[in-house]
Amino acid sequence: ISTRRSYHEKVLDHYSNPRNVGSMSKADTDVGTGLVGAPACGDVMKLQIRVDPTNNTISDVKFKTFGCGSAIASSSYLTELVRGMTLEDAGKIRNTQIAQELCLPPVKLHCSMLAEDAIKSAISNYYIKNPTARPATNLAG
Ligand code: FES
Ligand code: FES
Repeated sequence: ISTRRSYHEKVLDHYSNPRNVGSMSKADTDVGTGLVGAPACGDVMKLQIRVDPTNNTISDVKFKTFGCGSAIASSSYLTELVRGMTLEDAGKIRNTQIAQELCLPPVKLHCSMLAEDAIKSAISNYYIKNPTARPATNLAG
């Protein structure tokens, strides 16, 4: 019962008061844009990061999610998590981490996967625009 309540509280908090909703100019060279879809349900998430090139950290982050409450909560939580992180650390975030924090039930795991895919996609878009920023050890990333 307590797990269920905390699922509702955390998800509903991020769902009814999502953090960092919005978008940035895709054309800015310091912005990486990730756009991903969930095959399981067709929901779509757009996540954008602005990167401080002096230390490769995420200085700003915005998202738009056309999806269920858990997907909105997952992306809202993700934006709080990645702000100030290095690209390398942000790329290591796993959906299980997000699902655990929000106490998502198994049927909603793919909603947090959308958030993991979105941050990875935004990071790789940034590296495509800024090839010299990509760490040599992470060429496949
Ligand atoms: Fe995605 Fe319901 S299946 S909103
Ligand atoms: Fe598909 Fe949540 S993202 S039901």
